[in-house]
Amino acid sequence: MLLTAEEKEMLEGAQGRATQKAMQILVALGEIYGAEHMIPVTSVQIAGVSYDNLGEAGLQFLSEMAEGGGKARVHTTLNPAGMDIESWRILGIQPDFAEKQERVLDAYSRMDVITTCTCTPYLTGNLPLLGEHIAWSESSAVCYANSVLGACTNREGGPSALASSLTGRTPEYGFHLVENRHPRVTFLVDARLAETSEFGGLGKVIGEHIQSSKAIPYIRGIQAVTLENLKSFCASLATYGGAALFHMEGITPEADSIKPPAEQVKISKIELEAAIQSLNDATVAEVDFVSLGCPHLSIHEIEQIAQLLEGRQVKKEFWITTARATMQIADRCGYTSIIEAAGAKFAADTCCVVAPIQGRFTAMATDSAKACYYASAKNQFKTLLLPFDEVVRLACL
Ligand code: F3S
Repeated sequence: MLLTAEEKEMLEGAQGRATQKAMQILVALGEIYGAEHMIPVTSVQIAGVSYDNLGEAGLQFLSEMAEGGGKARVHTTLNPAGMDIESWRILGIQPDFAEKQERVLDAYSRMDVITTCTCTPYLTGNLPLLGEHIAWSESSAVCYANSVLGACTNREGGPSALASSLTGRTPEYGFHLVENRHPRVTFLVDARLAETSEFGGLGKVIGEHIQSSKAIPYIRGIQAVTLENLKSFCASLATYGGAALFHMEGITPEADSIKPPAEQVKISKIELEAAIQSLNDATVAEVDFVSLGCPHLSIHEIEQIAQLLEGRQVKKEFWITTARATMQIADRCGYTSIIEAAGAKFAADTCCVVAPIQGRFTAMATDSAKACYYASAKNQFKTLLLPFDEVVRLACL
């Protein structure tokens, strides 16, 4: 790779041990993918934060990078941690796990990483714009950044995202190059969608179509979407198709400058309903865990939960997962007190997938197709995928 004088200095260790290690990671990655240069990044989002995923080896790597003098050079935030750093006891997290999780966050903090832990960083101030080069790693957020915001990022691993943070660089390959952002298949959606669960179902259908080809989808036929629909769709498309970019006609910023690909797949309402049904292997009676906030909830969704729960009592363990910054807005609006009075629990800066809750429940109800996938694959729960409001109502049964 052709490196600048400053990048060579980083690689040779003149800017400290951690920066050297970071540049070594990026050069190795660049050489694997045939990048010719490094490019500057303006924003980083790092996955690999929950101790449940990192384990001892991951914690040791982070501690070494912190001890080696690593410092974030650009705006850097984190993916959800394995617990709510303040209310982990209420959520049933064990003290030995909490101690390890605190050490992970402490290592990031020593590297000047902003330890807000969310998969929707674009809702809490880490918001890149059209054409900005960034290095993000949470799959749903990568898909959102590339597709909805029009920023450019590959799906980074935790170490490569940290390396970008400590150097301010990423190798120029993949989605950083315009020629790699063109769609290959058009999907014509012949159904009206409104619920987040339906957009999750659509992500599953399209994701399964492109899973092996990795073709970038161009989606037509969607009449209207909300931010919440798009974040649900991104999470599902990334989970079931490994997709990091899509274009949606009339909605995403690059779509209208692109000609729809000739190869076309039609998606019917029946196919969508079948995708949703395929994630429903639990009965209502079996549900003992309810979770909303995959990806993390917006303030608008929290307001909706508060309206539905006002004056009611939940009968099941019910987690509201969101960024702490969003929860703090909910506190000020009075939503938190309504929700907590109903018996639901905020799980800030964490989620039902990265928290260590394997086997703790029988069946989970949610509006998220992504959460269903991991609840089954990682946590061995049965699942029920329902519209948002119905999930809240079920929690009260
Ligand atoms: Fe976010 Fe956890 Fe879902 S990281 S996208 S809430 S699995």
